[in-house]
Amino acid sequence: MDTETLGPDEDGLSRAAEILTGGGLVAFPTETVYGLGGDAKNDHAVARIFAAKNRPTFNPLIVHVADVDTAKRYVSWNDAAEILTTAFWPGPLTLVLPIRDDSGLSELVTSGLPSLAVRVPAHPAFRSLLKAFGGPLAGPSANPSGRISPTSADHVIAGLAGKIDAVLDGGPCEVGLESTIIGLTDTPVLLRPGGLPVEAAEAALGYPLGRHNDGDPLVAPGQMTSHYAPGAPVRLNVTEPRENEVLLGFGHVTCDLNLSESGDLTEAAANLFGYLHRLDETGAPIAVSPIPDHGLGRAINDRLRRAAAPRP
Ligand code: TXA
Ligand code: MG
Repeated sequence: MDTETLGPDEDGLSRAAEILTGGGLVAFPTETVYGLGGDAKNDHAVARIFAAKNRPTFNPLIVHVADVDTAKRYVSWNDAAEILTTAFWPGPLTLVLPIRDDSGLSELVTSGLPSLAVRVPAHPAFRSLLKAFGGPLAGPSANPSGRISPTSADHVIAGLAGKIDAVLDGGPCEVGLESTIIGLTDTPVLLRPGGLPVEAAEAALGYPLGRHNDGDPLVAPGQMTSHYAPGAPVRLNVTEPRENEVLLGFGHVTCDLNLSESGDLTEAAANLFGYLHRLDETGAPIAVSPIPDHGLGRAINDRLRRAAAPRP
């Protein structure tokens, strides 16, 4: 199959909506990373998402909707959801809530779990796409399973050309890290650090989030130890790179690519996946400077640890 590249103009959006309505797959921009979209009510479309990514079917998908009211059609709401969505939607936050019996969504989306991950992204091209399509969009990151996430339409094409119908090119992703995922089916718990700093979520709630540890049973398989992996090995917290390594730097260091010379974590997050893609193309092992572990630095370090983990 040929993968079309569509612009976020009227023609591109109506073509994208037409493909989605017909059960096809369209990769779409969000402020975090590109998602691989399919109709969340269509079993066939959702099955194709898993196949295109080569994603294990026990790993459930996020459903993207336009607003809080639409989200409430699919999940049962609670106080913490109200607080967090009032503060941070649309934006880089995903909530896991009990799924409603009458959701009408494909069961493949949740991999049979009694909960559903929902998100309202802020990217204008994504919002126009949802308006044109009119339904809930299932969407994992638009990369082959386990590999580096895509922050541009070119990354999507490099990973999935020929396996999906189209990509809606909305330019580079501003945040550059996947959404923060908070589980609200029980005591609120951080399931994945991401584009919304954990500190901001905790400040809005007024209490700390529970933490999910790597040894705990797998709730969000994005927590699988090896993930976001480049082809070459990755070594972290490096101040002296080896001769054969390329260095992904942070702050005032001599390196091949610098996430942020001024030490700005927001800039570093936006650059992370794009720079990993570029260094990966060199084929050399990748060394990475130490990154401070607060704010967005936590999510950056989470992704880097998984990129560096032993591969399955
Ligand atoms: O920023 C993002 O979150 C991007 C954009 C496209 O929205 N999406 C994304 O999707 O990162 P994905 O599939 O790569 O990561 C979603 C994570 C996975 O780790 C999955 O296991 C977890 O969310 N997840 C989905 N549904 C869940 C559920 N019901 N309970 C627990 N975890 C869930
Ligand atoms: Mg992903």
